[in-house]
Amino acid sequence: MRKIFKTMTGNRTFTMIKPDAVEKGYIGAILEKITGAGFKIVAMKYTQLSRRDAETFYAIHKERPFFGDLVEFMTRGPIVAAILEKDNAVEDFRALIGATNPEQAAEGTIRKLYAANVAENAVHGSDSDANAVIEGTFHFSGREVF
Ligand code: CMP
Repeated sequence: MRKIFKTMTGNRTFTMIKPDAVEKGYIGAILEKITGAGFKIVAMKYTQLSRRDAETFYAIHKERPFFGDLVEFMTRGPIVAAILEKDNAVEDFRALIGATNPEQAAEGTIRKLYAANVAENAVHGSDSDANAVIEGTFHFSGREVF
């Protein structure tokens, strides 16, 4: 069986293109930014989260006031989920996507270009190597990762 994460040395991260960006037709543009920045796509699927999926994926936020809205948002339409490979993947990808709130995101970042607001912020990026493994494993089986 292939391993989803070859090592724990920080060469892979997990992302989702969220329902807002999919609805607006930004899948192609966002994937181009990602590959143009040197990330290799090693797993990818077009799918829709169930309520249970979203509640599990975002369990860390369940006490937050925005949790209900977050689950509604993330389940309202399809997403693109992917595992990306590059040296220093987690940190470099977070730099590429920009701050959670697009108003605070740097010029040229994916969220600055494509996100509407702090809730509907176009893309997800893992915040640590450990979470990248958890999140990638949540979405992909070993034979879906290359
Ligand atoms: P992300 O960082 O990918 O994962 C947690 C998500 O919760 C975040 O993106 C936003 O979609 C959402 N979120 C974070 N902060 C807020 C907030 N203050 N209000 C509403 N939604 C938020």
